[in-house]
Amino acid sequence: MLDGKRILLIVGGGIAAYKALELVRQLRERGAAVRVVLTEGGSHFVTPLSFAVLSGEKAFTDLFDLKDEAEIGHIQLSREADLVVVAPATANLLAKMANGLANDLASTVLMATDKSVLVAPAMNVRMWEHPATSRNIAVLRADGVRFVGPEEGDMACGEFGPGRMSEPSEIIDAIERVLPSAHGVSLKGRHVLITSGPTHEPIDPVRYIANRSSGKQGHALALAAKDLGARVTLISGPTHLPDIPGVTTVKVETAADMLDAALAALPADVAICAAAVADWRVAHQAEEKLKKAEGQTALNLALSRNPDILATLAAPSASRPTLVIGFAAETETIITHAQAKLSRKGADWIVANDVSPGTGIMGGGHTEVHLVSGTGVEDWPAMGKDEMATKLLARAAEALHAMQLAAE
Ligand code: CTP
Repeated sequence: MLDGKRILLIVGGGIAAYKALELVRQLRERGAAVRVVLTEGGSHFVTPLSFAVLSGEKAFTDLFDLKDEAEIGHIQLSREADLVVVAPATANLLAKMANGLANDLASTVLMATDKSVLVAPAMNVRMWEHPATSRNIAVLRADGVRFVGPEEGDMACGEFGPGRMSEPSEIIDAIERVLPSAHGVSLKGRHVLITSGPTHEPIDPVRYIANRSSGKQGHALALAAKDLGARVTLISGPTHLPDIPGVTTVKVETAADMLDAALAALPADVAICAAAVADWRVAHQAEEKLKKAEGQTALNLALSRNPDILATLAAPSASRPTLVIGFAAETETIITHAQAKLSRKGADWIVANDVSPGTGIMGGGHTEVHLVSGTGVEDWPAMGKDEMATKLLARAAEALHAMQLAAE
């Protein structure tokens, strides 16, 4: 159910715009309030009046309608939504979103929003397969935009292939996945602290020790926590990922800085340690760039143990987060290692996954995890990292809720 959820639907200029009418009808049937913004192209395919009748609210089309702007500005339009859905999202609209163009109401609202955005692309197969579209999609995915479809099939232009907009029921399923609070779980009023990415441990002013963590999992967790209504602090080692609007991102380099930032961000209700923290740092960091000597054939670097952020956060203290969650990337005897890690570090849950070469999990978009806690092990099916993040945060919300009830 989507009771009480507010959806801002942006309708682009494609023949699939007619399906957006049915989408509005089905959304309202599930209890959502829908407000519609049409691009100029969109209003050539379906009239704003049709959307106004089905949504029960005025449908907006023109950025420069001063009367509309006085009644409800473009910033307010996106602020009042729980989720922004773009359906159909044309190649042009995706290109504008990827490049930050804001020259009409629809694109301005998309630039001004800090809410999650779900897009349902619809276009000719050649346009979908064009390298420019692929580039734009990659940029938008990195920005945290969610996608549903397109589907493969016969197209209005007589061609066959991917490019057909997903059916309204599939778009609604995707909306419910993005808005898990649609199922009644929420992290409103909670603070979620997430560590993410690699750490860089300096050797000298220009060199460092690092690892290949991309930070994608931590970003997905931050986005999922934000979607559930939490205040989110993401403490991130160096990554190439863009900041997430609405998430406080603290950028750090070393494990020691990450620990300081994590402690400074307390109190938190949930702490999730997804960072690939370097276990070791260089014991004596050189103040000047190290020079090799004539004939030198080896260099020994003495290393010191880094603090364990997960274990520090999980240690009993007045500021211990209610739920402390760690990750374990293993290549053999996964569950046994994860259970040992759970008790060694004092965490409440460990999300364990098999990162053996061949699973494609390390650096890939999918994952297959086991949720290990003091009460048992749950095997989750293979799923996207985004979906896993949503499921984990929903579980965290449920656990906090249950603990609160038990304490009352
Ligand atoms: N972690 C941390 N601080 C560290 C090291 C690890 O917070 N200095 C956290 C990670 O974010 C992750 C979990 O601990 O949640 C990983 O545990 P760890 O035992 O360090 O993983 P591995 O390095 O894979 O350990 P192992 O030595 O067992 O291979």
